[in-house]
Amino acid sequence: MRAVLSKTPGGPETLVVEDVLDPTPKAGEVIIEVKAVGINYPDTLIIEDKYQFRPERPFSPGAEVAGVVEAVGEGVKGVRKGDRVIAVPGWGGLVERLAVRAETVIPIPDAMSFEEAAALIMTYGTSYYALKDRAQLKAGETLLVLGAAGGVGAAAVELGKAMGAKVVAAASTNDKVEFALELGADNGLIYPSGPMDKAAQKELSGEFKLATGRDGADVVYDAVGGDYADPALRAMDWNGRYLVVGFPAGIPSLPLNLTLLKSVSVIGVFWGAAVMRDPKAHAANMAELMQMYADGKIRPRVSKTFPLEKAGEAIKALGDRQALGKIVVTVES
Ligand SMILES: NC(=O)c1ccc[n+]([C@@H]2O[C@H](COP(=O)([O-])OP(=O)(O)OC[C@H]3O[C@@H](n4cnc5c(N)ncnc54)[C@H](OP(=O)(O)O)[C@@H]3O)[C@@H](O)[C@H]2O)c1
Repeated sequence: MRAVLSKTPGGPETLVVEDVLDPTPKAGEVIIEVKAVGINYPDTLIIEDKYQFRPERPFSPGAEVAGVVEAVGEGVKGVRKGDRVIAVPGWGGLVERLAVRAETVIPIPDAMSFEEAAALIMTYGTSYYALKDRAQLKAGETLLVLGAAGGVGAAAVELGKAMGAKVVAAASTNDKVEFALELGADNGLIYPSGPMDKAAQKELSGEFKLATGRDGADVVYDAVGGDYADPALRAMDWNGRYLVVGFPAGIPSLPLNLTLLKSVSVIGVFWGAAVMRDPKAHAANMAELMQMYADGKIRPRVSKTFPLEKAGEAIKALGDRQALGKIVVTVES
């Protein structure tokens, strides 16, 4: 089968497509014939050895897949050949066939395309865990989403609306803000795309306050970091919750005095670890997300697809800040 492999640390241009042996299922495993692979920011990091996990090389990136169960190993119950499923192996997904533990696959409804399914778990899983379990977002509260047109950001916009919040979307271009407004955001603003000095940060904080309303944001969803963090923290309401999700713009330092002045909680979000520590809570969240999909409250937006041979270009496009919603790699075997 064909596999996209990282053989040396580096950018997407270092990835190669090679023929490798097909996997066979061990006891408790299933083989998924992969149809679509969701691309996520961690794919840009893992191939450069900059992610929390460092798999042994050669390895394939690709954290989440959708496909059809092709074979089941000994002792597998509840999953059958022919089932349409999704799985989040973390890496290893940019291949034609993939072995995963049977208990980790989740069935998908007939109405859901493989492209949509491959764009569902990581972004909506992360954002739902962040908003529901970590921030305990309540209906009527104001949610400010940074990077609101990216993968996890767009999911946070839709989920924030589904949970009854007033959602303010912030992003670096007019197209991105328009996209977030189409997803349901109540209000939007464009922020500068490059680094900011103190004066520009102060100005941005004022814009955040204007867009969120007189009292500021109850919850900030920050999957961007960098110079955007300080202005967002300054634009928070009393008892605010600041969600630390990711740092494409750099790891910021926060002045802790600001958290004291408004009784703000800074809350870390590590969805992958939470899934491993509490698989039952993860399963419950996934069931709720599937119900929201069935009710038409959420729908992953796939703005661009690439074939398996061009997976490196897909990862490059995402790293270059080009994604609106999700980029997906499709696999034809
Ligand atoms: N904590 C967790 O459990 C968890 C789970 C999944 C992902 N994440 C993290 O969440 C972040 C977003 O992931 P994603 O898959 O949603 O990525 P994505 O689709 O590429 O979105 C990232 C957004 O960050 C913004 N950005 C600002 N500065 C950037 C820069 N220098 N380079 C690239 N993007 C920049 C871009 O929006 P603008 O152009 O509008 O600024 C972009 O839309 C990543 O840091 C990822 O590692 C965390």
